[in-house]
Amino acid sequence: MSGTRSYTPAAGHHFLTPFYDIGVRLSTRETLWRAALIELIAPKDSDVLLDIGAGTGNLAILLAQKNHATRYFGIDPDGPAIAIARKKASAANLAAEFLQAHFSAKVVAAWPAPSVATLCLVLHQVPLDEKLRLLREIHSVLQPGGRLYVADYAEQKTWLMRKLFRVTIQNLDGRADTQPNADGALPLLMSDAGFSDVHESRQFDTVTGSISILCGMKQPTPD
Ligand SMILES: C[S@@+](CC[C@H](N)C(=O)[O-])C[C@H]1O[C@@H](n2cnc3c(N)ncnc32)[C@H](O)[C@@H]1O
Repeated sequence: MSGTRSYTPAAGHHFLTPFYDIGVRLSTRETLWRAALIELIAPKDSDVLLDIGAGTGNLAILLAQKNHATRYFGIDPDGPAIAIARKKASAANLAAEFLQAHFSAKVVAAWPAPSVATLCLVLHQVPLDEKLRLLREIHSVLQPGGRLYVADYAEQKTWLMRKLFRVTIQNLDGRADTQPNADGALPLLMSDAGFSDVHESRQFDTVTGSISILCGMKQPTPD
């Protein structure tokens, strides 16, 4: 269960959760960046994917379309969002597993260690210390050689993107949690959390600001 800890719901307010999917589709060029993310992940049969802040399960559906054999585990503290995710997965006949909880290494201990972890549109909605905690704990649960993909509003590099981000996402989710992303903190936080080869793979300009796909790796254990 989610307990008493707070979090920002997927669409900024609980009453907007049923409209989250349509909102993301219309405001983020979702089809493009999610397809690019799946291409980068290139899921193999043997991969175990952990989706932190799984929301309404959109990644689970796309992942299964790309490779039905990849095992998917999603975690999110938001009950209504997880209920939508479970419904979609069941309609699509997926074996995806969802857990309603704030992510920590401890709460996912019963699941197999992931070879791939994803954080999509989560980090811009959490405080700076929570961004680093999430990244550190993801690093601790990943298999050696495992990969992390962050798809989120990261550095807003142009005047137009900064302006659009300010009037849309920062209005909805508040300035305190979102500004470090816009200032380019995410790659530094990923490196601080222990990830190597941190880089921005793609960036998509949208009407709500630019969305980046950032990649990092947990060092393989030496032979
Ligand atoms: C904007 S939604 C993104 C949902 C989904 N990843 C997507 O791409 O559509 C952010 C999600 O992060 C979740 N979240 C916030 N804090 C979290 C935490 N500590 N652990 C796991 N999920 C969290 C929220 O409940 C919300 O559903």
